[in-house]
Amino acid sequence: KKVVLAYSGGLDTSIILKWLQTEYGAEVVTFTADLGQSTIEGGAELEEAKRKAENLGIKEIYIEDVRDEFIRDFVFPMFRANAVYEGVYLLGTSIARPLISKRLIEIAEETGADAIAHGATGKGNDQVRFELAAYALNPDIKVIAPWREWEFKSRTDLMNFAETHQIQIAKDKRNEAPFSVDANLLHSSSEGKVLEDPAVEAPEYVYMRTIDPQDAPDEPTMVKIGFEGGDPVSIDGKKMGPADLFGKLNQLGHDNGIGRLDLVENRFVGMKSRGVYETPGGTILLTAHRAIESITLDRGAGHLKDELMPRYAELIYNGFWFSPERDMLQAAIDASQTHVEGEVTLKLYKGNVIVVARDSAKSLYSEALVTFEDDAGAYDQEDAHGFIQLNALRLRTLAARNRKS
Ligand code: ARG
Ligand code: SIN
Repeated sequence: KKVVLAYSGGLDTSIILKWLQTEYGAEVVTFTADLGQSTIEGGAELEEAKRKAENLGIKEIYIEDVRDEFIRDFVFPMFRANAVYEGVYLLGTSIARPLISKRLIEIAEETGADAIAHGATGKGNDQVRFELAAYALNPDIKVIAPWREWEFKSRTDLMNFAETHQIQIAKDKRNEAPFSVDANLLHSSSEGKVLEDPAVEAPEYVYMRTIDPQDAPDEPTMVKIGFEGGDPVSIDGKKMGPADLFGKLNQLGHDNGIGRLDLVENRFVGMKSRGVYETPGGTILLTAHRAIESITLDRGAGHLKDELMPRYAELIYNGFWFSPERDMLQAAIDASQTHVEGEVTLKLYKGNVIVVARDSAKSLYSEALVTFEDDAGAYDQEDAHGFIQLNALRLRTLAARNRKS
């Protein structure tokens, strides 16, 4: 039996690795995706993952930098839709899972494995996302989800297993630190333990990639973001690749305390959960993208997009990235973005992203039409009379009946 494991190098997936070897009798291939988490958490983790996998006797170790692919093929398409789940969540974990699954399936094919394994629990969204994506790409793949299968009943059982098998348990792991942290170029999320009571404010140490807005500079930071085809391509006139551009936005967001979110959300499996998220660059991008759309999108197209958006966001949240309905919505969204280009100027200030200017060669904004000064015949105000009369027709009919009864 050969299994490709989504391996972070952390304690839990190390335990899973050992469990797959000893209890499952499987040969394990590890895959560690560099989605940008290393730049956030200090840098050493990918090396660590490699060293640990070697120590656990793994022969086939895959560690891959997928940052550009992540931003270009997953994050940017999602931002074209202005996708947010339940009004606020920018889907930072949700959008990374399909990419990881895609590589797991490809590596399984390359190495002759017939199964994949992941470290998501049986209580959350991630198991659904990993597995729906995997089955959509390979209908015959076997999935091993140790959290749903093993006999451990508690954290203590797990720690005992780790000790028996000499898996190192980092001492610096604060006892009360969140149970589950997930980070990539788009966001960081923390759930569990100290965060489990939503009536209690999250401690400051949970935040890992933004400063407290209260501590942000008293002077605003001005930034100009350039768009082409609905995607950001430059910052302050400088062209940048997807991952570099996101890195820069994240830095700006960090420095100005932007993108913190504490929410209770509805998981696909049915329960509510409380999470603390930081999406510094994404929060800036969302505001900038809406601003460039405000001058380049037609009203009908823009409003239809906004109607489709909650549906699209829910598909991504629920794990249906690789589905015909997501493809259909994506095609509609992408078609709307052809002329979404130009520049947006933003003021970043103590947690706020404030639009101050927008400009585009493809702008639909017409000063000649909108001006309150002499418009030289661009618009005939008399036309509005009939427009209002016909729109008022049924309202007047109703009002007449209401007056009678
Ligand atoms: N609740 C968020 C979501 O469902 C974040 C999940 C975080 N996952 C994790 N393994 N820590 O997208
Ligand atoms: C997990 O259950 O593994 C993390 C939380 C989630 O997937 O929603």
